[in-house]
Amino acid sequence: MGALEEYLEWSNLPVDIIRLIRLFANETEMLRKAFLKNQTYCSGRNASGEQQAAMDTFADKVLVDLFSNSGLVRELASEEQDSLIRIPDSSGTIALVMDPLDGSSLIQTNLAVGSIIGLYADGDVLQKGKNLTAALYSLYGPMTVLVVSGGKGVRSFAFDPDVGDFVVLCQDIMIPEGKQYGTGGLRNEWTPEHTSVIRYCNDMGFKIRYSGSFVADFHQILVYGGFYGYPSLIGRPEGKLRLLFEANPLGFIVDQAGGRISDGRRNLLLVTPTSIHQKTPIYVGSTGVIEKIEEIYAEKRDA
Ligand code: AHG
Ligand code: MN
Ligand code: MN
Repeated sequence: MGALEEYLEWSNLPVDIIRLIRLFANETEMLRKAFLKNQTYCSGRNASGEQQAAMDTFADKVLVDLFSNSGLVRELASEEQDSLIRIPDSSGTIALVMDPLDGSSLIQTNLAVGSIIGLYADGDVLQKGKNLTAALYSLYGPMTVLVVSGGKGVRSFAFDPDVGDFVVLCQDIMIPEGKQYGTGGLRNEWTPEHTSVIRYCNDMGFKIRYSGSFVADFHQILVYGGFYGYPSLIGRPEGKLRLLFEANPLGFIVDQAGGRISDGRRNLLLVTPTSIHQKTPIYVGSTGVIEKIEEIYAEKRDA
């Protein structure tokens, strides 16, 4: 039995969740190969007003078809779909959220990008991230990496083309207290709170690492520690990233790895979303660093 199969069997996850993780894992090599022919941008814009890359719409179509035809998903929300997809005749109860391709501005530069998926065993997609049953992401870098959590820690896998299957990369990822950071947003749009956070990092000797692909930048922080931030900005208080498709699945994973996700004031996993494309400021990373960031925000508020 392959390493991913072994993990899924050990996970004790509901059988339909296991099937969906398996279905997605089986698509990753095809998605990886599709970058060769999907290097351009399309004319369309998504619900967040962003120009779609050919790979955004390709990955979205592949994954929407895969999941909605699975017979396991009752509700599906994708970053690239304007509206919620309901599958009322599905025999399954799963609510699925996804960013089919995160980091798409990096496709033409061949830096790492990936797909992010969150799975709720039942209910709808407008649930707290804390309620997720499982979350996973793929990362298309020098290797195809799959990081999965079913609520019992976090395991990473790498695809071995010689074997045609995933092998274990890290059995039980725990995020260390590291000193790397990356921040989105233009400096002249930073709020006083965010400016203080960055000043603190510089004073403490943190090293900057920011690629522009959340999933890749997150993965780096998961391995080395520190934080990734896409903050509230002047004129854009909600920031850029989305609660359902980006913050919650990766927040669930970092929480399972002993880290934290916050908007600077509260644990994002406890926020009940009110709309599918809802945006949120994000700070995600090592627990000590995120606590310090919340302290800095609280000091500024009380000053
Ligand atoms: P997506 O490619 O899914 O639209 O997400 C892009 C996001 C995220 O991946 C990244 O961290 C952030 O946008 C980068 O934004 P900037 O280019 O503004 O730094
Ligand atoms: Mn994204
Ligand atoms: Mn995307």
